[in-house]
Amino acid sequence: MSGLAKLSAVAALLGSSLFVSTGAHAQGALTVYCGVQEEWCQAMSVAFQRATGVQVALTRKSAGETLAQVRAEASNPKADIWWGGPGDPQLQASEEGLLAAYESPNLKDLHPWAVSQFKQSKGRSVGIYAGALGFIYNTDELKKRKIAAPKCWSDLLKPEFKGEVQTANPNSSGTAYTSLATLVQLFGEEDGFSYMKKLHPQVNQYTKSGIAPANATARGETLVGLIFIHDGVTQKINGFPVDVATPCEGTGYEIGSMAIINGAKNLDNAKKWYDWALTPDAQAIAGQNKSYQVPSNKKSPIPAEAPRLADIRLIDYNFQKYGTADERKRLLTRWDNDIRASSN
Ligand code: G6P
Repeated sequence: MSGLAKLSAVAALLGSSLFVSTGAHAQGALTVYCGVQEEWCQAMSVAFQRATGVQVALTRKSAGETLAQVRAEASNPKADIWWGGPGDPQLQASEEGLLAAYESPNLKDLHPWAVSQFKQSKGRSVGIYAGALGFIYNTDELKKRKIAAPKCWSDLLKPEFKGEVQTANPNSSGTAYTSLATLVQLFGEEDGFSYMKKLHPQVNQYTKSGIAPANATARGETLVGLIFIHDGVTQKINGFPVDVATPCEGTGYEIGSMAIINGAKNLDNAKKWYDWALTPDAQAIAGQNKSYQVPSNKKSPIPAEAPRLADIRLIDYNFQKYGTADERKRLLTRWDNDIRASSN
């Protein structure tokens, strides 16, 4: 290539990249606090950027952490969208005035449980997926140690699981708050807490995020993890020696949710994301990235690998009650005092 040709090639390249960045800039930006698995978060960000030209800045956080951050930033919001993670902290955030009301034209296409999140939050949060709580266990390790797979909550209290159960901290993790509220609803508050007290010596670690116990079980670092079972299905599909179960006594579930932050600086782009995230095309990105929740749009295909909620003994989880600010704070304080602070 001659010097001149080289120069004009460089100039063309510069010109086109200038054009791309100006084009993207014209569409503006969007900051998303993402509450699901990292891979799915990234894939959503890339797909949205491609579809709209909007530049997305995204951070993955656990639900309790996002609530704390959105609250701390309330006078000068840094994020526009809170996308993913169990809905209870978003109900609390709506009550605290941290979220903006918005009704998407796509609301009419959603399953009743997703619309119910919208109604309970007075239009400030909406369901994007659902998933059931349960156990993941390492099949190789159980076989090696001749231990039967856990089927019920009561099984986790057996001597063979001492120090072998991993779960998250309900202050930071939405998964673990779902499990705390589930036990309280399933057994009653006193019996629920007495169960958690007995479970405490069985627990080797209270992790920050809800997905961590699934990863640890897959690697054989713990025999059992308390998780949303679709996270266990992902590990199984990744080839790890694991299986999942839902407790025989009954279990809770999450309505994974989305909201616009009150005072969002990029409100138009936040609405664009919100509408897009409720479409079947955007919801299909989950399954394509090995996330096997049940999507909230009735027209979205349910991944074949997704655990069927109808086959699981689900409790009638009272999102209204367990998502209120007072109830969440009260239960978390009791958990800190009665469970976390008690020694093994
Ligand atoms: C995983 C699950 C999601 C869940 C989220 C909660 O990503 O796949 O269904 O909503 O964890 O995360 P957290 O860290 O708040 O428990």
